[in-house]
Amino acid sequence: MSEQTTLRSRAWFGRPDQLGFIHRSWIKNQGHPDQMFDGRPVIGICNTWSDLTPCNAHFRILAEMVKRGVYEAGGFPLEFPIMSLGEPIMRPTTMLYRNLAAMDAEESIRANPLDGVVLLAGCDKTTPSTLMGAASVDLPTIVVSGGPMLNGKFQGRDIGSGTDTWKFTDDLRAGRITEHEYAEAESCMSRSDGHCMTMGTASTMACMVEALGLTLPSGAAIPAPDSRRRRLAHLAGNRIVEMVHENLTLSKILTRQAFENAIRINAAVGGSSNFLLHLLAIAGRVGVDLTLEDFDRLGSHMPLLVNLMPSGKYLMEDFYYAGGLPVVIQEMKDHLHMDALTVTGRTVAENTAGVTCYNRDVIACIDNPIQTEAGIVVLRGNLCERGAIVKPSAASPELLHHRGRAVVFDTIEDYHARIDDPDLDVDATCVLVLKNVGPKGYPGMPEVGNMGVPKKLLLQGVKDMVRISDGRMSGTAFGAVVLHVAPEAAIGGTLALVQNGDMIELDVSNRRLHLDVPEDELARRRAAWVPPTTPHAERGYPRLYVEHVQQADQGVDFDFLQGQSGAYIPRDSH
Ligand code: FES
Repeated sequence: MSEQTTLRSRAWFGRPDQLGFIHRSWIKNQGHPDQMFDGRPVIGICNTWSDLTPCNAHFRILAEMVKRGVYEAGGFPLEFPIMSLGEPIMRPTTMLYRNLAAMDAEESIRANPLDGVVLLAGCDKTTPSTLMGAASVDLPTIVVSGGPMLNGKFQGRDIGSGTDTWKFTDDLRAGRITEHEYAEAESCMSRSDGHCMTMGTASTMACMVEALGLTLPSGAAIPAPDSRRRRLAHLAGNRIVEMVHENLTLSKILTRQAFENAIRINAAVGGSSNFLLHLLAIAGRVGVDLTLEDFDRLGSHMPLLVNLMPSGKYLMEDFYYAGGLPVVIQEMKDHLHMDALTVTGRTVAENTAGVTCYNRDVIACIDNPIQTEAGIVVLRGNLCERGAIVKPSAASPELLHHRGRAVVFDTIEDYHARIDDPDLDVDATCVLVLKNVGPKGYPGMPEVGNMGVPKKLLLQGVKDMVRISDGRMSGTAFGAVVLHVAPEAAIGGTLALVQNGDMIELDVSNRRLHLDVPEDELARRRAAWVPPTTPHAERGYPRLYVEHVQQADQGVDFDFLQGQSGAYIPRDSH
């Protein structure tokens, strides 16, 4: 590893002139002694703490642990906040703000005297946003995930974030539980620090950064309240100082091999469909040419090894006690680039050598997987010329090959207004179609793709139906749900032309999604199509978003944020 000779921070703290005086003097108001400015690496701790991001509410403690480690290794830690994205709270959707937070992270890192960065991330979008921003700067960078909550406990059984929320809601609508039980479950589900403890998007992102080699081994699964999470933060503080000395920048780890590992591991853990959007966006920042087809080609034939909700039975706490991601990586070793470099300075193989699985019901052997084929399937057809996706492991198998009559909702408000109408013309064989929930159409591409089944069908015992939209689905959700249809309805994709009664064919094994309407009829509808107006996007950030956001097959990043600007030192400020 090449030794870094000139630290970037010296352009601020190493000058004898007035500007050096200014840079040092004001920072000294926090009591830092002179030796902090003697040329030691300055480490930024990029903190997504917020009371409004409950999954990251314990991050002040984690930041202190990172600082201990940085000081111990001879660095100078400086913590800074960036925009935090609280999945269960923000409206209209955190996805609208992912790119804004990424811009915040990128510019905050570059504008300050930092030589290396520790990213503290947990709730869904806080991981990809910080990583996208950091990737466009390309300093030595390590991720410390906040860790999952402890298992939810309700009426003597384990319950999982999100996954059981959807089930409780359906049970309430169908009269299977009382309103009192529904209210009681709230407190039982989220009972500790940490993010969703199912294999939802946050856990998927934590596995993604470990699979990419960006966190210390076992970093994905340690529960947030477990003291070993704090220990890991301390060790990350140690390690980032060494990484600066080694000049081990992010782009040396984020190679094509690392992305391929992440895709295969995501299949094995049953990770969220949101993984695809975020990985595409991160790859776009470091110039790795990843396409939708890579996800299908590399991931869809991988076995499912991890038995976690929403695809399976257990939760992240169980996953950690069973051995966590290092065990999965060892099981998958014949499918992975085990020589890929990681933040430890060692390879994936070296990081995971000698690990033991302590519960084969939670992490299966590769010779006896939970499912032989998992991962995300990419669909093509006249209904999604630029692709759509489905996660077969989360769907009812009998619906993966299906032909049904479309029941169309123009907006999510239209869906809510009519879905429980007893007169809605729908049966279990129908295909629910939701339009205008894509990146530009909402705007922000919300997690509404897993529309609930109509109440009258729920009462008949129907639990799953084919559903199609240009939106996303929570990683904690499940069902025969086709997502990320591109081009989206709001820009005139074929999805915009679907009408009630049209027949739609879903054929997952042949990767096909087809609207069975003659071409001349589609042409007639296209000529008559009127673009919808996008609410609240006339000014400010939403306007920037609508003007520059790309479609789902490109990761929903802004067109002008592709690539890197690097870690150049900006011009003097005074
Ligand atoms: Fe924050 Fe699920 S709501 S991780």
